[in-house]
Amino acid sequence: MKILVVGGGGREHAIIHKISQNKNVEKIYCAPGNGGIAQLAECVDIKATDIDGIVAFAKANQIDMTVVAPDDPLVLGMVDKLNENGLNAFGPVAKAAIIEGSKVFSKNLMKKYNIPTAAYETFDNSKDAIEYLKTQKMPIVVKADGLALGKGVIIAENYDDAVKAVHEIMDDKAFGNAGNKVVIEEFLVGQEVSVLAFTDGKTLVPMVSAQDHKRVFDNDKGLNTGGMGAFSPSRIYTEEVNKYCYDNIFIPTMNAMKSEDRTFKGVLYFGLIVTEDGVKVIEYNCRFGDPETQAVLPRLKTDLVDIFQAVIDEKLDTINIEWYDNAVACVVMASGGYPQKYQSGYEISGIADAESDIVTVYHAGTKLSDGKIVTAGGRVLGVSASGNNLDDAIKNSYEAVKKISFKDMHYRKDIGVK
Ligand code: AMP
Ligand code: GLY
Repeated sequence: MKILVVGGGGREHAIIHKISQNKNVEKIYCAPGNGGIAQLAECVDIKATDIDGIVAFAKANQIDMTVVAPDDPLVLGMVDKLNENGLNAFGPVAKAAIIEGSKVFSKNLMKKYNIPTAAYETFDNSKDAIEYLKTQKMPIVVKADGLALGKGVIIAENYDDAVKAVHEIMDDKAFGNAGNKVVIEEFLVGQEVSVLAFTDGKTLVPMVSAQDHKRVFDNDKGLNTGGMGAFSPSRIYTEEVNKYCYDNIFIPTMNAMKSEDRTFKGVLYFGLIVTEDGVKVIEYNCRFGDPETQAVLPRLKTDLVDIFQAVIDEKLDTINIEWYDNAVACVVMASGGYPQKYQSGYEISGIADAESDIVTVYHAGTKLSDGKIVTAGGRVLGVSASGNNLDDAIKNSYEAVKKISFKDMHYRKDIGVK
């Protein structure tokens, strides 16, 4: 079997690491991939958003399964195009991926189907949005409707900042057309938990829970990033909370999408917040999360390719998905300066020494240069270690991190401490 994975970050490395354990897989391609992925897959120089390029490659190389990992190609309809060309593909079609692609859509879906979420209003012009802000309590959250590279959410502490956020998004078009509409919603207080789930539209199987750390510095200080680390399981996501979420959030969401003629097949990501008045949905994603995947997939016992095919065939109910009863912590090692300006091209040493039976180093922003692995992005590596419990996993991960070095590297010292 030949598999093509679309994307090139730590998440895709973790997916490919699992795929490579399937005995029927003879060849893996990744577009565009990175320096670590290149050790398991042949990297092809096609952009993850180049739909025609990916379809042509999959056809020409008789790919048996294409796994589309990032949000933008899913929202743009890459799986639709692959299917139209008779190609087997994992991931939601565009009309289902809208659950991440439009926050106005997802909020209205939750309201219509009584799925718990923050109170909100949506606006298609800044004047009405600003009028509404005058009546609201602060802080408040202003969200661009569309995809904005994870940056379209602004938490405003006061009215002036909220007005500024509306102008930036809607009038200055800081995120382009993603800001044609906005969602303005109530600010919720609580711990966030990420639950990713496999679903074929009829059956939904939640994966083990995870939490990520978005801020760049310890104690959740500094700017938001794509994620500085993750761990699984979450300490606050008990069996009881899981049952509540399954009955009141997960299954209702799957059924709502089906009722809207937008059957969702793929990985549905629930960004949850555990508040004093119960669990609410902060966001949906139409794909595996990054870096949660690097903490969740190492715990998966069942073959991932079999699960992907069962989802595509709408036979998820025939598979028993099993997990290791352990914990995993993933510490992200980033370039100094990230998420703002940083330098790349520095040689990375110690990766092989850090890896072991319990430690895998997933590459995010790396590339091969003259046979050496060098930094090539803001988030460079995700060092994932397992342990019998979270404390052990965290300790094992930091022991591995200490063996790796590159110039100006930065990582948080408090991953898992929440
Ligand atoms: P989103 O892209 O919707 O996940 O938002 C990014 C981050 O902003 C979330 O992970 C939260 O940390 C924060 N956030 C979003 N919505 C809210 C809200 N209603 N209340 C508090 N924090 C929020
Ligand atoms: N870790 C958050 C995301 O993947 O969007």
